[in-house]
Amino acid sequence: MVKKLGILTSGGDAPGMNAAIRAVTRVALANGVEVVGIRDGYRGLIERRFKNFSKSDVSDILSRGGTILGSARLPEFKEEEVQNQAVKILNEEKIDALVVIGGDGSYRGALALTKKGINCIGLPGTIDNDIAGTDYTIGFNTALETCVENVDKLRDTSSSHHRCSVVEVMGNRCGDLAVYTAISCGAEIVVTPESGYDELDIIERLRYLGSAVKKNHAIVIISEKITDVEALAKKISQHTDFSGRATVLGHIQRGGSPSPFDRQLASQMGECAVDMLMEGKGGLCICSVDNKIVGVPIEEALSKPKNSRKHLHRLFERLV
Ligand code: ADP
Ligand code: F6P
Repeated sequence: MVKKLGILTSGGDAPGMNAAIRAVTRVALANGVEVVGIRDGYRGLIERRFKNFSKSDVSDILSRGGTILGSARLPEFKEEEVQNQAVKILNEEKIDALVVIGGDGSYRGALALTKKGINCIGLPGTIDNDIAGTDYTIGFNTALETCVENVDKLRDTSSSHHRCSVVEVMGNRCGDLAVYTAISCGAEIVVTPESGYDELDIIERLRYLGSAVKKNHAIVIISEKITDVEALAKKISQHTDFSGRATVLGHIQRGGSPSPFDRQLASQMGECAVDMLMEGKGGLCICSVDNKIVGVPIEEALSKPKNSRKHLHRLFERLV
């Protein structure tokens, strides 16, 4: 029976993490379980940055972006010695279960602690939507809204100046933000890790759109970590009828008030995490599968291949 539950956020922050913190805290307190907020991810755990949470400590955070707990990266947490130290601290503090909100790296830490006797549950908090096993991660929907709002603005100015906007979006080697944005904004070209990068093909397509179709603007959405978008924009200016301009959306994608979708997802997932711990379960991550919130073994989720989104790329090509 869980008596004292710790909660931390780890890795890159995501809108909706606060909604998850609130849900976990309130559902746990309603079950008579004490809640300890741990600041700055696994680093704060090792440095004992703890605060006992009451119901009011999580008031007025549902609509706020970021994470009130702070987030951090602690590469040393991969080392068994550091994990043992964490278990020792948790035992000393009588924290017998942990909810970890983060991405797949954070899940690996949660799995290691579970194997060492502290039941942990992972909640998928990342804008990248790169966790296999769940249809959506907390933060993806809000980040998508940010991308769409900004690309719509870029389309306005591009069409006034016969330009091609090359827009780099985040995703950490997952193309979901890019392909969802491209479909939502009616982009002309999308490039993701799943589609591959063919510069000649991009130039050819833009030449055709500029000279044969006589389009007065074009939008290319490209996932980060694929190519230098400034260099690509220059080549577009040199080899097509369009004047190329690059925009890197950057960290604005991680901020902002979470969308209603993300608030719902975070609240339902937070509730499910506490329910699982109350049932004595650990080593699970909470997933949204076909609109149902379920617990899946972390090992199983991590070993699943990532969805290639072939159907979305096909849809995109049909809509261009
Ligand atoms: P994310 O959780 O968003 O994928 P990271 O990959 O940066 O972000 O991981 C966040 C933190 O999780 C790392 O800084 C580290 O503390 C911990 N972590 C990552 N990989 C592992 C691992 N293999 N074993 C234990 N802990 C890990
Ligand atoms: O995982 C979230 C994410 O924003 C990725 O999309 C991106 O690659 C990375 O984190 C950026 O990390 P940092 O906060 O270190 O700049």
